[in-house]
Amino acid sequence: RQIQWHRRAFQTSVSQNPPIPDFGFTFDIDGVLVRSSRPIPAAQKALPLLQKNRIPFILVTNGGGKTEEQRVQYLQDRLGVPLSADMIVQSHTPFADMTHLYDKTVLIVGGDYDHCQLVAQKYGFKYAVTPIDILCAHPEIWPFGKQYLDLYRTFAKPLPTPIDLSSPATSLKFDAIFVYNDSRDWGTDTTIILDLLLSRAGILGTLSTKNGNPALPNNGYQQDAQPPLYYSNPDLWWAAAWHQNRLGQGGFQRALEGVWAAATDGAHLAKTAIGKPTQATFAFAEHRLRHVRKQMFAQRGLNDPLKRVYMIGDNPESDIRGANEYRSPHGTVWRSVLVKTGVYRADEGKEPAYRPDVIVEDVLEAVEWAVEDAK
Ligand code: G3P
Ligand code: MG
Repeated sequence: RQIQWHRRAFQTSVSQNPPIPDFGFTFDIDGVLVRSSRPIPAAQKALPLLQKNRIPFILVTNGGGKTEEQRVQYLQDRLGVPLSADMIVQSHTPFADMTHLYDKTVLIVGGDYDHCQLVAQKYGFKYAVTPIDILCAHPEIWPFGKQYLDLYRTFAKPLPTPIDLSSPATSLKFDAIFVYNDSRDWGTDTTIILDLLLSRAGILGTLSTKNGNPALPNNGYQQDAQPPLYYSNPDLWWAAAWHQNRLGQGGFQRALEGVWAAATDGAHLAKTAIGKPTQATFAFAEHRLRHVRKQMFAQRGLNDPLKRVYMIGDNPESDIRGANEYRSPHGTVWRSVLVKTGVYRADEGKEPAYRPDVIVEDVLEAVEWAVEDAK
């Protein structure tokens, strides 16, 4: 299929500088551009076409587990299009703006090996500790983790502070819990997170009878306040290499919350969630797309408004819902385009839970439709 690029979008003018497009794209990754490590062929056509026609776009994913630099390197090799680190928003990217809030020890959950710990350190979290670090220092904290210890010890780090319950004031204390990516060891991760949520003010190994007490609002008193819990991706399902959708970070969250509810007799669990479809992530993405667009046309003194953004996604619950519900502070209109190459299964004959502006076969058709729509 050849896209008939209407000159309107790139009207030739006397000068060599056609008008700056007043629209841009945000692309979801898994199920739109790739299936696990396999590129989706339509993506290898769609992105180079946008770059050739200087139409701004960024990638917005509920995935993560690597630095932004590593992820774009991995993607550009597979998609045949140059990408810079500021062209990707991963599930945990917004956490980089929170280092000023937590300059002491934080728990970093999820991802392969110590990769998310390294991402957190790159963001500026000085004391990033993982559940595996804790398990290797105290194997008895989770009796069923022993069989993995040899592997875990190849990448575990020493704890920044020992657990010394004889003097809680100087014992290992966590100021926040961040779930950066999908847990690789639900047992260890759930155990450590639960210990901290029930602890006295994040001091590992202590128990606050107030945290989780259903009789008390918001889990107890200030001096026992549990460390805040941050999730980065609510996806229950995602489209990986297997033909059936796979459990995402949302699956781990629901399992953790089931254990919390049982352990606290149904107490409320305070948490902060980012990731699509949250408005926080869409606002972060719009800000980043504006930045990339401004850079693309910097030498021309961009002052043309960004009128429309096309969110191309495969998951109605995250990509489509988020774009449909997001309200831009700049009055930019967001349109949602659902592709059939990922989570959404057109063959199930079900209407998507959140209706997109259009349903198309793949990302190339999505771009074709959007360029028409943007006329
Ligand atoms: O873990 C990644 C998965 O939840 C979905 O990623 O790129 O489709 O938002 P993405
Ligand atoms: Mg997806």
